[in-house]
Amino acid sequence: MPLSLSIRAAKPLELEADITVFGVWAFDASKKLPDVIKDVDQALGGGLAALLKKEEFSGKPEQSFSVPTMGRVATTGRIVVLGLGDRAQAKDPQVRKFTARAARAALGDRAKSLAIVLPEGIEKYLRAAGEGVELGAYRFTKYLTGDRRPKETLETVTLVTTSKKALADAKKEVALGQKIAQGVNLTRDLSNEPPNVLSPIALAAEAEKMAKANGLQIEVFDHKEIQRRGMALIDAVGRGSANEPRFIHISYVPNKKAKKKLVFVGKGITFDTGGISIKPAAGMGEMKHDMSGAANMVGLMAAVAAVKPHVEVHALLACAENMPDGNAYRPGDVWPSLDGKSVEIINTDAEGRLVLADALAYGAQLEPDLLVDNATLTGACVVALGNTYSGWYANSDGAARDFNVALKASGEQMWRMPLIEELREQLKSDSADLKHTGDRSGGSITAALFLREFIGKTKNWVHADIAGPATSDRPTGWNPKGATGHGVLTFLALVEQAE
Ligand code: BES
Ligand code: MN
Ligand code: ZN
Repeated sequence: MPLSLSIRAAKPLELEADITVFGVWAFDASKKLPDVIKDVDQALGGGLAALLKKEEFSGKPEQSFSVPTMGRVATTGRIVVLGLGDRAQAKDPQVRKFTARAARAALGDRAKSLAIVLPEGIEKYLRAAGEGVELGAYRFTKYLTGDRRPKETLETVTLVTTSKKALADAKKEVALGQKIAQGVNLTRDLSNEPPNVLSPIALAAEAEKMAKANGLQIEVFDHKEIQRRGMALIDAVGRGSANEPRFIHISYVPNKKAKKKLVFVGKGITFDTGGISIKPAAGMGEMKHDMSGAANMVGLMAAVAAVKPHVEVHALLACAENMPDGNAYRPGDVWPSLDGKSVEIINTDAEGRLVLADALAYGAQLEPDLLVDNATLTGACVVALGNTYSGWYANSDGAARDFNVALKASGEQMWRMPLIEELREQLKSDSADLKHTGDRSGGSITAALFLREFIGKTKNWVHADIAGPATSDRPTGWNPKGATGHGVLTFLALVEQAE
């Protein structure tokens, strides 16, 4: 059942809810307590203020405080106070994090209903507040049965505002935020699906379902069509699997003539064994997430359909399963790309850049103002930046500027990496135009340099390597454990700022 989320003007603790969360801006603990805390303290019959003092609670972002009301407050079973940090710094990301933490607190408490009392000053960020609730309440429980199946689920969340001003607009903002987050959650669902269920064909079916539900156009190329069109690199990667590859093109075209055209590309390897250059057994199951870039595209387009921007947006998903087999591609093979370059295969585990190469060449033919690809592309990027930041590359100052603006708006963690020209040497081949991998040094950069070969005349291109933060080993910020949907919010910001 979908989460019922609404916003209402009410007094704090007026609303009935299993759990009530208060957000508190950072304050000087040596001075007087914020009014909200005083009110809660009074409702609890005193004692809270002293406890908070003892805990040195001062509204810092990581601080939280939780007390059962034990019947002392009629309307709620538990009160949680969450620190929000500096009020002057707070924008969408901080607000999104706050409501996500509130939703997680409710999940942890097995609450069915949650009231979130919004602090003053949050009115401008209600869309982010809506996003945070839906993102924080996410769980992937589809395959749990019996005792493992959560018995209680969070059903209703009410955002409580103390001001009645512009409540109609507030409702719209919150509802839009919820829709956007449902897009991100769709991405998470797809990425979390086991690889025996989510084949390229199943991913295409999911994309079609999303497109149909949102009035978007979609084209799916089957294996024959992939071959007929000359996408031989996608064919090469997918040929070792009984699950055929698919190429998916989803588009959003606004009613009025659009000023700009954005094209996004996602890597959709539904499982990456490494192929003939097979991966070690330990942790291989994690490679079910190797289609996270493509999953981002499905969630992004759902969000785009909700926002209805005045720009044309295309999403291209290059989907295949990388398996070892008698029919699989091999190291030493030479295969042609869609735009006619010959590529010598070095290591069949570097399959992502191959399917992306054909997708980028296809994307370049659409002549976009901005071309963005995203992929769980290299372990080297994780070595460079760790698990919580992705690496991004841009081929122009304009594209880099736009991407930085989008990152600031989304609050997602991505670090710019350099396209170091010297390293292109590593991609020179004796038997073909290009080798598809270099040596171990600069592995994330040479992957980016390889991709750049396929963007044709595209002036503004960004490549995001999301190998690290596409998944998380624990809940942080608005992200759960498992698939995060990292990237969707930044790409949506890019779309919205292009209007
Ligand atoms: N899907 C992997 C990259 C990856 C690694 C994603 C860890 C998420 C976590 C990719 O296809 C891959 O295997 N890359 C190789 C490239 C190498 C053979 C040049 C890698 O990073 O080792
Ligand atoms: Mn691989
Ligand atoms: Zn891969």
